[in-house]
Amino acid sequence: MKYINILVFLLLCVTFVKSSDLESRKVHLVDYYQLPNGNTNYFFRGNEPKKTLSNGINKSNYSTAILAYDDLVEYMRNNSQTVYGITLPDQFYIIDIKLVTGPLPSELKDVELEQNFFAAEPQLGEFHMNQTFGDIIDPQFVSKDNLEKYATSLPTWSKDNLPLRMRDYHNILITQRDLPVVLYVHCECGCDRTGEVMASYVMRFKGWNLEKALEWDFQIAGRVINFANRWAAQWYCLYLYYVEKFDIDCNPPPL
Ligand SMILES: *[C@@H]1O[C@H](CO)[C@@H](O)[C@H](O)[C@H]1NC(C)=O
Ligand SMILES: *[C@@H]1O[C@H](CO)[C@@H](O)[C@H](O)[C@H]1NC(C)=O
Ligand SMILES: *[C@@H]1O[C@H](CO)[C@@H](O)[C@H](O)[C@H]1NC(C)=O
Ligand SMILES: *[C@@H]1O[C@H](CO)[C@@H](O)[C@H](O)[C@H]1NC(C)=O
Repeated sequence: MKYINILVFLLLCVTFVKSSDLESRKVHLVDYYQLPNGNTNYFFRGNEPKKTLSNGINKSNYSTAILAYDDLVEYMRNNSQTVYGITLPDQFYIIDIKLVTGPLPSELKDVELEQNFFAAEPQLGEFHMNQTFGDIIDPQFVSKDNLEKYATSLPTWSKDNLPLRMRDYHNILITQRDLPVVLYVHCECGCDRTGEVMASYVMRFKGWNLEKALEWDFQIAGRVINFANRWAAQWYCLYLYYVEKFDIDCNPPPL
């Protein structure tokens, strides 16, 4: 299993080198929770919250990236309003979690950007990272006996630790603070690693089956998501089925 994780890491290094600006179509409300004090906390997915400013003149200093805080808030407000009729509160506290793999050298600049932004504006929120690799065993090629065995022992071999992570995210959602909380979980593209984690969340907390969860990811990404992240979501589905005794269908969508 150790070698497998190294292989996953190398594959991801090759796959995730591109980084782009925050996109409205990637920002989606995933869940919300009303607290005893009357506040509501929210859970959003999205992509890297940055904006590249290009100065257009000096080629050796062609562009600088800034944290796209205002755009992020605008896209969140727009998505929750137009899709769910939910008006976000005037003020909220963002818990920003970036899904990283390493972080990769290509991600370091964005990590720094987010770290610096929230260090300078601690009243707006806080920044964290969660390692996300995906798994490279395709459940389709595992025998029924081993399927149950691997699914049951998932927390011991899968680096992404989705069972614990889903509880962590849900705990943030249901924890009351002075201000309403917006949990924002994203990677660079908001497609593959984010897709894995969000598919897992909606299977665990919203009763979706694997096919519906992954179709939703594909639609947001505008493509099929990376195999390692699809398989990790499927292993988590099987964990829900065998260990948590969920009545859930873990067949992936046709590709
Ligand atoms: C690069 O250009 C931007 C935009 O014009 C400017 O704000 C920034 O200070 C420049 N950076 C350097 C290192 O010159
Ligand atoms: C272009 O930007 C680089 C890096 O900021 C700077 O060292 C250089 O002097 C600039 N060149 C001009 C012509 O402004
Ligand atoms: C607002 O949200 C709707 C529905 O998701 C989307 O179609 C539209 O492009 C969004 N507008 C902006 C300005 O983000
Ligand atoms: C994810 O990040 C949060 C915030 O730093 C941390 O508390 C949690 O332990 C991390 N979860 C996993 C599974 O790494």
